Amino acid sequence: MDEIRRAAEILRAGGLVAFPTETVYGLGADASSAAAIARLYAAKGRPADHPVIVHFATAENAFSFAREIPPEARKLAERFWPGPLTLILKRSDKAKDFVTGGQDSVGLRVPSHPVAQELLREFGGGVAAPSANPFGSVSATTAAHVREDLKVDLVLDGGPSDVGIESTIVDLTSGVAMLRPGTISELEIESLLKTKIQKKKEDSPRHSGGLERHYAPKTPVLLARPHELDAQIAKRGASVAVLAFSRPDERVDYWIRMPREPQAYAQRLYAALRELDGAGCGTILIESPPETAEWEAVRDRLSRAAG
Ligand code: TXA
Ligand code: MG
Repeated sequence: MDEIRRAAEILRAGGLVAFPTETVYGLGADASSAAAIARLYAAKGRPADHPVIVHFATAENAFSFAREIPPEARKLAERFWPGPLTLILKRSDKAKDFVTGGQDSVGLRVPSHPVAQELLREFGGGVAAPSANPFGSVSATTAAHVREDLKVDLVLDGGPSDVGIESTIVDLTSGVAMLRPGTISELEIESLLKTKIQKKKEDSPRHSGGLERHYAPKTPVLLARPHELDAQIAKRGASVAVLAFSRPDERVDYWIRMPREPQAYAQRLYAALRELDGAGCGTILIESPPETAEWEAVRDRLSRAAG
């Protein structure tokens, strides 16, 4: 409790607090302070024109940053907040250029992790928080990951993140469009709203998750279909680290076996990528998951890791 109070004080003073959310750890700063957000971007090494998601304890607080709240936003918030969903809405004057990247829209999220909830309630206002990792690299799902990568004023430790990959992002600024798949699926959203989700438009607003190489380890990543795995290992031998569904192969020193269930896979993905990245191999070889809808979010992160 004392630590939460201290964390809120650091945020009020313009400092940086990393905190757990159910998706990944966030690097938090006061969303109303230009100076705090400048520090945040510097700590992440992120280009200043990229927008950040603003986090709140409640939907009511979140919607105060939007000037139009379409019925779809209320329905999605009611069903999925607090939880791993980010909504892009037309901004109100509370959402300043330094959190929107100068765009007319703002990203809003109400996380469910109890430590995030306590922090947001104690702080009261909006907390801008990108994933707590250097720009472009693998997101952090534990406090230890954050400490390895970033210099911040305080890291709140809430244990490993449950979901393991970043929130689903839905753009509601004109119609309903999916900007980033996540564990809340397109199908769930379509069946709730009884409408088809648009494909991401070419001219959709900038979002760094949309860059080609993102969520990426330093080691080059190669995706292989299950039937290609063996040939790739034969070709590369001991210089590969493998992430696969199948049992370890004795020719390979670094092998992480992943669950055949997408939620459990997502939960372990970033820790596994970090571990294989640390093995010092020439290539991280990853067995592609099935092409089915339930694997969409995981496939998205893997293909971005592969660049
Ligand atoms: O699960 C998550 O969403 C985590 C946790 C910490 O909440 N946060 C996260 O933040 O993944 P970040 O900054 O790493 O990714 C947020 C994505 C970026 O691709 C950003 O460009 C996009 O959301 N975004 C934010 N505001 C936007 C806006 N107004 N329009 C379009 N994209 C936006
Ligand atoms: Mg990120």
